[in-house]
Amino acid sequence: MSIKVENLSYIYNHNTPFEHSALKDINLEIDSKKIIAIVGATGSGKTTLVQHFNALLLPSKGKLVINGKEITSEQKPKGLKQLRKNVGLVFQFPEYQLFEETILKDVAFGPRNFGASEEEALALAKKYLNIVNIEESLFERSPLDLSGGQKRRVAIAGILALESETLVLDEPTAGLDPQGAYEMMQLFSHLNKVENKTVIIVTHDMEHVLQYCEEVIVLDKGEIQGHFSVSDFFNQRGLLKNLAIEMPALIQLRERLIEYGFSNLETVLTMEELVLKVSQEVAK
Ligand SMILES: Nc1ncnc2c1ncn2[C@@H]1O[C@H](COP(=O)(O)OP(=O)(O)OP(=O)(O)O)[C@@H](O)[C@H]1O
Ligand SMILES: [Mg+2]
Repeated sequence: MSIKVENLSYIYNHNTPFEHSALKDINLEIDSKKIIAIVGATGSGKTTLVQHFNALLLPSKGKLVINGKEITSEQKPKGLKQLRKNVGLVFQFPEYQLFEETILKDVAFGPRNFGASEEEALALAKKYLNIVNIEESLFERSPLDLSGGQKRRVAIAGILALESETLVLDEPTAGLDPQGAYEMMQLFSHLNKVENKTVIIVTHDMEHVLQYCEEVIVLDKGEIQGHFSVSDFFNQRGLLKNLAIEMPALIQLRERLIEYGFSNLETVLTMEELVLKVSQEVAK
């Protein structure tokens, strides 16, 4: 399922004194089955952009074509419900949206809402609570009894339970401890590589971009600054400097070695490759 964005602009509070142009003439194509990062400074328009991917926001100008369905300013797309099922969107801080009496009911809500029987919905809820590592002894407890990290995992299970082809995650690891963030990223990587889902992750974490993503889309002040392979992205020295993006430790080390005169390191993205190439050059 591809996502195509054509000349998309979005204005908050149009025709009021609070009018704010959050996206300006965005053009973009996201191929299916990829795992892609959307990066950019706070306020650059990342959340506004991804909320268009399941028609939560409609364009002020331009259009999106998602799975062949057009989304424009004039019309809600036909089959909106199907689109919302095909593109599962996990909000920034999704734990604020937990509302059911029990954890199990909360996760089952989505599938039931999209037509699953009670029994199917509960089975899906159990399956995805297991996948996000929530113990069965917690299923009948209130979501309010959980820690912040557990709440986040329950909220994400609620979207996973829709079994969408495309998953859009708005800063899914923000505020999690390193182990929690690692497990979450492993899960998204698994969903992409093993279950063939398209995964779009809004993130500020460049280590995650380096380790898990294939492509990077860069937003700046509501405009696309580029759409790169991960390898090309970490070679955009001018752009990275302008955006004041903190580089992963490995890339910082690589760049220092290049400054010291080591050659052939520009495409290196793993520690193994870096060690190999540097030792080969030292041995020359
Ligand atoms: N509901 C709203 N009403 C008015 N302006 C808004 C609204 N939501 C966002 N904006 C503005 O639109 C711009 C883009 O916001 P957006 O939330 O998309 O940025 P972001 O890149 O997701 O930022 P962050 O990294 O902080 O989550 C910002 O200038 C923001 O202040
Ligand atoms: Mg945001």
